[in-house]
Amino acid sequence: MTSGISMYRLALVGFGSVGRGFAEILSLHRQRFVDRYGVDVQIVAACTRRWCVYDPNGIDAATLLRAAASDAIGELPGARAWNTDQMIAQVDADVLVEASPTDMMTGEPATTYIRAAIARGMHVITANKGPIALYFAELRRLAEERGVTLGFEATVMSGTPALRLGWSDLAGCDIQEVRGIVNGTTNFILTRMERGMDYASALAEAQRLGYAETDPTGDVEGHDAAGKAAILANVLMDARLTPADVECEGITGITREMVAAAAAAGERWKLIARVWRDGPTVRAAVRPLRLMIAHPLSSVDGATNALAITTDLLGDVTIIGPGAGGVATGFAILSDLLALHRVRRTENQEPRTEN
Ligand code: HSE
Repeated sequence: MTSGISMYRLALVGFGSVGRGFAEILSLHRQRFVDRYGVDVQIVAACTRRWCVYDPNGIDAATLLRAAASDAIGELPGARAWNTDQMIAQVDADVLVEASPTDMMTGEPATTYIRAAIARGMHVITANKGPIALYFAELRRLAEERGVTLGFEATVMSGTPALRLGWSDLAGCDIQEVRGIVNGTTNFILTRMERGMDYASALAEAQRLGYAETDPTGDVEGHDAAGKAAILANVLMDARLTPADVECEGITGITREMVAAAAAAGERWKLIARVWRDGPTVRAAVRPLRLMIAHPLSSVDGATNALAITTDLLGDVTIIGPGAGGVATGFAILSDLLALHRVRRTENQEPRTEN
């Protein structure tokens, strides 16, 4: 380690659109993080359901991307016959970056990976919505008890800092409601259907662009947005909702005729997630709504997402930005890593407290 440079050794779980997007960022910009922030990042392990590689000397991100693309991981010097549990149990790394496919019903196997990494004293950054939607309170407690950080910015609005805006920048406000468009795939499909594309082709395009989940049923039936609504409720409003508590309807019932009829009336279909206080309880719902063209959420197109956060002290604060995609979500992992670095630096500089 060069003086003044902090090295973070990462173990990656999952190498789909998000894992590859993060590796792409590292392969292009690693030196920028060294020069600007004194943060060097080295991948030491990566595991999927099909392969695993661990090299304590570091794995070049571009080499990993090329090997994965050409199905040649076995030719890398660190290729091992490990599964992900074995990797987490044995790897020498500072941070587990968990980006395996989401299961919104069970949160597994990601939650098991996260618990194991925390137990070993690793920081965890996850892009996986299942564990945060289902087990946020428990995972946050485990991380606090072990003195490590849990990053999850990627789970809502990809790299657009919607969660950080709510829990960090709006700290001190009471958040009363959040509502918006939180699924990129469905917003992309609805936008394409307005331009005459049929549903199946629009979904295929969203899959090709890396917006959709491994199983896109969760996107189009609203479960992905419901999971994000639960995350927003639990992280920003201190609720204890699960995705199953969120009233949920997706876009599968919306036909091209319905899209055309809305357009003729000066309206657009949008899949809207809403979380709100109802007396002492927090409730959440996801459903397609026809919005007037003049409505602020109406102009949010494609895989872009938007979230309006209603607070007691500021009124509405709205954030708009990318909601899906490999590099956009990979950026969230990077932002959590830089946030982790800032926290560690602050802790090291904290003055001693007097007894
Ligand atoms: N499938 C998700 C979406 C990815 O389309 O929004 C980002 O969470």
